Amino acid sequence: MKIRQVWKRENLCQFAKAELSDYLFIVVSNREPYIHSYQGNEIKCETAVGGVTTAVEPVISAIGGIWIAHGSGDADRDMVDSQRKLMVPPEEPLYTLKRVWLSDEEVNSYYYGFSNQALWPLCHAVDIKPIFDEAQWSIYKKVNEVFAQSVLEEIGNRKAIVFIQDYHFALLPRLIKRMSPEITVAQFWHIPWPRQGSFQSCPWGEEIVRGLLGNDLLGFHTVRHCRNFLTTVNRMVAGSKVSYEKAEATVEGRKTEVHPFPISVDFEQLSQDAQSVEVKGEIERLRGELNLGDKLVGISIDRLDYIKGIPRRLMAIDRFFEKYPEYKGKVSFIQVTVPSRTEIPSYRKLGESIDTLVERINLKHGSGDWKPIITMVGPLPVTTIMALMGMADLCIVSSLHDGMNLVAKEFVASRCDNDGILLLSRFAGAAKELNDALLINPYDIDHLAASMEKALKMPRIERYKRMRRKRNIVRENNIYKWAAAIILELTKLV
Ligand code: G6P
Repeated sequence: MKIRQVWKRENLCQFAKAELSDYLFIVVSNREPYIHSYQGNEIKCETAVGGVTTAVEPVISAIGGIWIAHGSGDADRDMVDSQRKLMVPPEEPLYTLKRVWLSDEEVNSYYYGFSNQALWPLCHAVDIKPIFDEAQWSIYKKVNEVFAQSVLEEIGNRKAIVFIQDYHFALLPRLIKRMSPEITVAQFWHIPWPRQGSFQSCPWGEEIVRGLLGNDLLGFHTVRHCRNFLTTVNRMVAGSKVSYEKAEATVEGRKTEVHPFPISVDFEQLSQDAQSVEVKGEIERLRGELNLGDKLVGISIDRLDYIKGIPRRLMAIDRFFEKYPEYKGKVSFIQVTVPSRTEIPSYRKLGESIDTLVERINLKHGSGDWKPIITMVGPLPVTTIMALMGMADLCIVSSLHDGMNLVAKEFVASRCDNDGILLLSRFAGAAKELNDALLINPYDIDHLAASMEKALKMPRIERYKRMRRKRNIVRENNIYKWAAAIILELTKLV
């Protein structure tokens, strides 16, 4: 198999079977791929959408491993056996999902607390400062230990590869390696790794870094995140040996390879879905229901998170109508937000400030039945999301800092007509690959407003040229290639 080919689900399955069949393959993530919850007396099974499930499920399905995750659904306990396990996917059981139970206190301190109020803002260079709370840190450590135990009790004496997801499990790799050095451990850190200067504010920074150095392979989205991590190791861990050229760090004779693997989307599937009759019908419906007629449309689709730069983007829309009043009544911006981590005060406050801003801007510029900004609250059905992407003249991704941002790639994959302009923050990982987008500085409100105008009057030929180039990039660098590249590195290590 060559890594430079267009990877499909089938190729990835074959590749995984050929390379990993001798190993027990264990995936660990905080969110489970299937969540069971009660709807009245009925039990409903929801599938986690997103890059990880799309990429990892073909691998684990092909070789039949175990996925260990926090069981968060209210019907989860009623679906498992005495070992907290069930076979999934429900319609064609191919691998085991093992659920870990956590108390409310553990979820509050480990997930809402240390993961999302310390590590999340620590790794994103934004206005929100991390909260370092000793009690939350100690529960974060305990939860990592619970997961380590859960992994180790599955492995026994078997040859195994453990593939850990994300910042919820910084300590897990070392805990596993300490008990069983022969297990191959890899981790993908889905968020940025910050500059060493800001990381050192974390009182337990060294322990976190040492935890991650339990990995044989550690992946980030971009070369910059890898280099930031290596610099952090170099400065924080006494006696460490770091090589930027070889992309590795060695501590106490143990080596961790640190490589970039830019995550992506299922390009072919999205392209196909975008052309369906249902999506075309939904575009008609939305245009009618939202009173859009033949108006130009700008869209943004975000998890309601302060890293996404939503208030500044709204201010830029305000500036856009001030500077270019000729667009009044001719363009509407649709803002879809998906509520997230609502237990955390900064997330709740963000929601309130967005509502206030939208109301103010709509009052200031709107007239008759035309609204400058239309808001929609997600999660929305996939058909609606695809329709919004399909009808957009402009898609704005203005994150203040973002590991990758898959909305940008989804928008590109969905535009089989080669039309539509992507305004993309230069602080999103996706900007590295999609440099044919109009790159913006989300802090510069005037420039963002001017870029909106530039996009809306861009000649069709240039729009096509830019979109075609972006599509070629995402087609080749799709989600299956992400997983294949990680497996390829793993095969060199086992
Ligand atoms: C973003 C991050 C991921 C995270 C995901 C879901 O996409 O990049 O690292 O896992 O959000 O977050 P949640 O807190 O809802 O599980």
